[in-house]
Parts: sequence; structure tokens; C-alpha cells
Amino acid sequence: MSINTQHNLFISRCFDLAKLGIRNTSPNPMVGAVLVYKNRIIGEGFHRQYGSDHAEVNCIKSVKSEDHPFIKDAILYVSLEPCCIIGNTPACTDLIKKLGIKNVIYSSIDPTPGVNGKSKYLLQDNGTNVTTGVAYKKGDQIVRYRSVIARLMRPYIILKFAQSVDGFMGVNDKQVWLSNSYTKTLSHKWRSEVDAIMVGTNTALLDNPRLDTRLHYGASPLRLVLDRKLRLNQDLNIMDKSSPTWIITEKESSKSKSDNLKYVNIAFDKQLIPNVLEELYKDNKGILLVEGGSQLLQSFIDLNLWDEARVFNTDVLLKNGINAPKINRLVHKTWKLRNNELQQFFNPM
Ligand SMILES: NC(=O)c1ccc[n+]([C@@H]2O[C@H](COP(=O)([O-])OP(=O)(O)OC[C@H]3O[C@@H](n4cnc5c(N)ncnc54)[C@H](OP(=O)(O)O)[C@@H]3O)[C@@H](O)[C@H]2O)c1
Repeated sequence: MSINTQHNLFISRCFDLAKLGIRNTSPNPMVGAVLVYKNRIIGEGFHRQYGSDHAEVNCIKSVKSEDHPFIKDAILYVSLEPCCIIGNTPACTDLIKKLGIKNVIYSSIDPTPGVNGKSKYLLQDNGTNVTTGVAYKKGDQIVRYRSVIARLMRPYIILKFAQSVDGFMGVNDKQVWLSNSYTKTLSHKWRSEVDAIMVGTNTALLDNPRLDTRLHYGASPLRLVLDRKLRLNQDLNIMDKSSPTWIITEKESSKSKSDNLKYVNIAFDKQLIPNVLEELYKDNKGILLVEGGSQLLQSFIDLNLWDEARVFNTDVLLKNGINAPKINRLVHKTWKLRNNELQQFFNPM
């Protein structure tokens, strides 16, 4: 096996491990690490939960006692630059120095202020060999949401909707189903991977969505709905207090509140969406999924406040209705999902 193949193989294992932390690590990044001695993995770990031990620490903790003597001569592979700052946990560069690990290889730079490439030089000053940028395109993809959070100080925003073959996402005054059972389950999986999910007032009224993850394992995200004039009825599913919910309004509410139902007062002016994002950021919510309707999605597009869009093109013909928003970017990837097509778009930072 060539040295490059070997690096790619072990970094690829780090990516797989990193992805096991999806949702739970946000707003921190997903990270995976493996420790390799003479081509044998002697330890591996990933960042499991926001605020808890980093991947490198879990990797070292997993090493069996008989392999401890090999740690310092092993290669530490990490999907992301090890941190060099003390946050919720100690700096991983200090751990690497303490253990005397002589070779560190990672894929992407950690965009966190204070880190951002600095660890390489700190480790090199300590005599550690550092190789960076292995499979960085894939690595950067895994750390993409963290880059947005760290650099733009707002959640990573995913727009999601389904449209008819003639470009409508719904009809006036009644609910229509565009998704198939497969895309519906996939949408619930996506909900389990985000911190918050948001809909507009008309969608809450017409579709009465529950915005939960009942078709897939994983916790339901925080639900957000716009309700400027408090016209949403308490009988709607979104009001059922089954999961934490924010009602964004400009009116004072006298309605019953609970731990799971919060009225958030924000002015409905040009700053509405940025202010909602700021509230989410302050509450450590790292990933927001916007599920419609058309007006709400269009507001995010007009403000250029989105990072990724996932659009289901269905074979349903509606002939008239509510126009679906237009995503003004080239398609990144397309998948065929039975009679639906999924298109993914990215909006560069
Ligand atoms: N195909 C899909 O994937 C999908 C997904 C969701 C919904 N839908 C369909 O979409 C339709 C609803 O879409 P829609 O465009 O009519 O409604 P919407 O975006 O769900 O809600 C629009 C209302 O929400 C408030 N709102 C939204 N964005 C706002 C902003 N930036 N600033 C201030 N207020 C804002 C306003 O309420 P006020 O008027 O009270 O101010 C506005 O009238 C329904 O037919 C639904 O079935 C389809």
C-alpha cells in the first residue's frame, strides 16, 4: 500500500467515525480520529456530544493497555485540525504533546477563531511531524456547517421543499401531498439531524405539520413558526407542546406558556429573519432546516441567508397554485428516489 493510499484510507475511517456524531455535536463540528501503529488501528473515537470529550481524547481512551507502549510511535489521524484552545474541554494539542505522539495527519482546518490553522505550527514547534489537507474536499464538506457557524455567527441554513412538475409547491387553501413514502421518511431523517426547523404561518395553518421525527429515530428538533398577529389556533399540532417550540410574534401573548412553548417577541421588519437567526445562535442552535412555505423560503433566498437547498422534483401536476421558490445556483448533485428526483444545491460562503 502506498503512503498516500494509507493516509486516505485512515482519514476516510475518521470521516466515517465523525459522521456518527451528527446532530449531537452541533454547534461544534463532527470529528473522528484513529491511532495507527504499523498499519494497525490501535484506537479510534469520535466527538459524541457537544461539550464532551473531543475525538482525539476518545481515541486515546479506547487504546487497550497492551497497546499503550505504542501510542507515542503511532500516527494520529484526525478528520479536523486538533484544537489548541481551552474551551469546554482541554486543548488536544496539549494531549498530543503530553503523550509524545510524533506524527499527526489531519484533513481540514478548524475554522474556530483562535484555532484556524494555528495547531499545525504549535505541534511542529514541539517537534511533531504534521501533514494536513488529506482528502480535504470531503473533510471540508463534513465541517461545512461548523465553518458557517464560526465565521458568520449564525446557524447553517438548509432550505427544503418539494415542487410539482409544473413548479408549484402547493395550492391555495388546501393541503396537497407531493412527496412519496421514501422522500417523506428521508425528510424525517433530515429533521433528526438538525437543531431547529422553521415554517411560515400559512404552512402551519394549511398543512398542520407536526415537524417531528416520527418516521425516523432521533430526537425532534426545536420547532419555530412565524405568527405575527397570533392567528394560529391552539389546536394545531405545532402547539401541542410535544417538543420545544418557539412562536415568533410581534404581539404580547396571554396564551398558556410552558417549558416547551415559548413566545419570542421580534419585530416583523426587515431584520426579522436575521434576528431569528441571532436568537437561535445565542441558544446554541447550529443547524436550521426551513421547510416552507414559499414566502418564508423566498425571504431566506432574497436575503442570501442559506447554505444548502434540498429540492424534491415530483411527478405531480398541479396546473396552478403557489409558485415554488427558484434556487439561483447550479445543481450540485441529483438523486433519483423512485418517482421523485432530489436536487442538492450549495450556496458558497
Ligand atoms: N411543497 C412543499 O415542500 C411545501 C412545504 C411547506 C408548505 N407548502 C405549501 O406552501 C403553502 C404555504 O406557503 P405560503 O407561501 O403561502 O406561506 P408560508 O410561507 O408558510 O407563510 C406565509 C405567512 O407567514 C408569514 N411570513 C412568512 N415569511 C415572512 C417574512 N419573511 N416576514 C414576515 N412574515 C412572514 C406571513 O404571515 P402574516 O400574513 O400573518 O404576516 C405570511 O403571510 C401551502 O399551500 C403549503 O401546503 C409546501
